[in-house]
Amino acid sequence: MRKISVKIGLLFFCLIFSMEVCLFFLLHQKIAHSRIDEQLSALVTRGNNHRDVLETYYNQETISHIALMEVKSDTEVVIINEQGEVIISSAEMNHQIQNVLNLAKKDISRNGKVIDDNWKSGAYIATVTPFTAGANKGYLYMFQDTGQIKQLMKQLNRHFLIAGIATAFVTAIIILILSRIIAKPLIKMKEATKKLSQGNFSIQLENNSNDELGELAKSIQLLSSELNHLKTERNEFLASISHELRTPLTYIKGYAEVAKRGHLGMDERLSYLKIITEETTKLTTLVTELLELAQLDNNTFTIQKEVFSVYDSLQKVSQKLLPSFKQAEITLLIVCPENIQILADPVRFEQIIVNLLENARKYSPKGTITTVEVAKRNTGIIISIQDQGKGIPSSDIPLIFERFYRVDKSRSRELGGTGLGLAIVKELIDAHHWDIEVSSKINQGSTFTIIVRDES
Ligand SMILES: Nc1ncnc2c1ncn2[C@@H]1O[C@H](COP(=O)(O)OP(=O)(O)OP(=O)(O)O)[C@@H](O)[C@H]1O
Ligand SMILES: [Mg+2]
Repeated sequence: MRKISVKIGLLFFCLIFSMEVCLFFLLHQKIAHSRIDEQLSALVTRGNNHRDVLETYYNQETISHIALMEVKSDTEVVIINEQGEVIISSAEMNHQIQNVLNLAKKDISRNGKVIDDNWKSGAYIATVTPFTAGANKGYLYMFQDTGQIKQLMKQLNRHFLIAGIATAFVTAIIILILSRIIAKPLIKMKEATKKLSQGNFSIQLENNSNDELGELAKSIQLLSSELNHLKTERNEFLASISHELRTPLTYIKGYAEVAKRGHLGMDERLSYLKIITEETTKLTTLVTELLELAQLDNNTFTIQKEVFSVYDSLQKVSQKLLPSFKQAEITLLIVCPENIQILADPVRFEQIIVNLLENARKYSPKGTITTVEVAKRNTGIIISIQDQGKGIPSSDIPLIFERFYRVDKSRSRELGGTGLGLAIVKELIDAHHWDIEVSSKINQGSTFTIIVRDES
């Protein structure tokens, strides 16, 4: 469950802990060295002091006195003459002391030097100071038992160990808390997306931070409301489809039942069959349009753009629609300069115009004029389709491009459209990256304006 916090925690812990270990090591080295240096220089100074005394009063008494002074302390003194013979020693000679005395006595300044600083394995650390008292020359050795230094180091190590463990412990606790704080919103988001995947779109994520996590939470929240919207939209869409399918089917079934009756005259039967045929045609159109929309939705269709003459295309459309306009007694006027070229998918372009013209024809009374006007502007082409029909209430204008939306819901069987025409037009306009605008006045007419922007 909390894998992410464990991961973050471990990572941080390893990082910070190794940094702490490095720092502790450096600090330990520094303290240890300075302690040992202190001890060594104290020993050199002590040797130098003895030398001063020795040089001032060089006699047997002074020598014994110096040796005596060291008997009671943990340091020892050995004085040898130039020939290497031991004049006096405060300690019993052993081979370690002897070894130090045998070391080469080169480069020794008057102020003496450390000759053996191996405190780790040796029993002594040692310094040497040369002396000259008249004709008597020699070396004064100081030895210090390393036991004390070892003890000191042990103590230092123990302190460092305790401090190290305490720091590691505190670091671990702080990181544990921090990683939980970091991981908590992530875990919440994970749970939220899990809910989303299970179809529960009503999730609530509090996002009070302004960082990337907050942004992510906002995106997930947005996604959930969008999915929720899609879900309701899909349900409504399905409800509309089943309704739309059921209506013609009910007609077909009803009229087929009636047509079956034996006592009907030929004319009556034919009129029923005609209705059945009409309704079947309507169903076919509906299914075709639905398939078209589904294709548009899935982006499985592609727009194949080419440059063609708007005038030619409109002529073709008008030839196709003229009979139906004539029948409806509506004049179709096309105002288009012959030299305007457009970059579009010619089939889809025709489809857009046909859909809009069919609406103009369907929703206009006899004796009116429908005008298609094309004009070239600096930015592109404007195509407007204007009718003198019944118009669209302004409250309905934002909705007419929705699927299955019809202003007149209680439409008669004759005037019945499916409410998909404009939805398809909108999809095609979007696919071309164009715009469409509607203006309308009740009982005066509607104008649909397509705005084609030049693509450069
Ligand atoms: N030129 C117009 N004048 C008046 N009302 C219109 C016009 N064009 C569209 N409408 C209104 O907008 C609604 C939606 O139009 P749309 O073309 O999408 O569907 P339809 O014409 O009803 O059916 P079809 O799918 O067969 O085209 C129509 O039902 C109609 O009420
Ligand atoms: Mg229509």
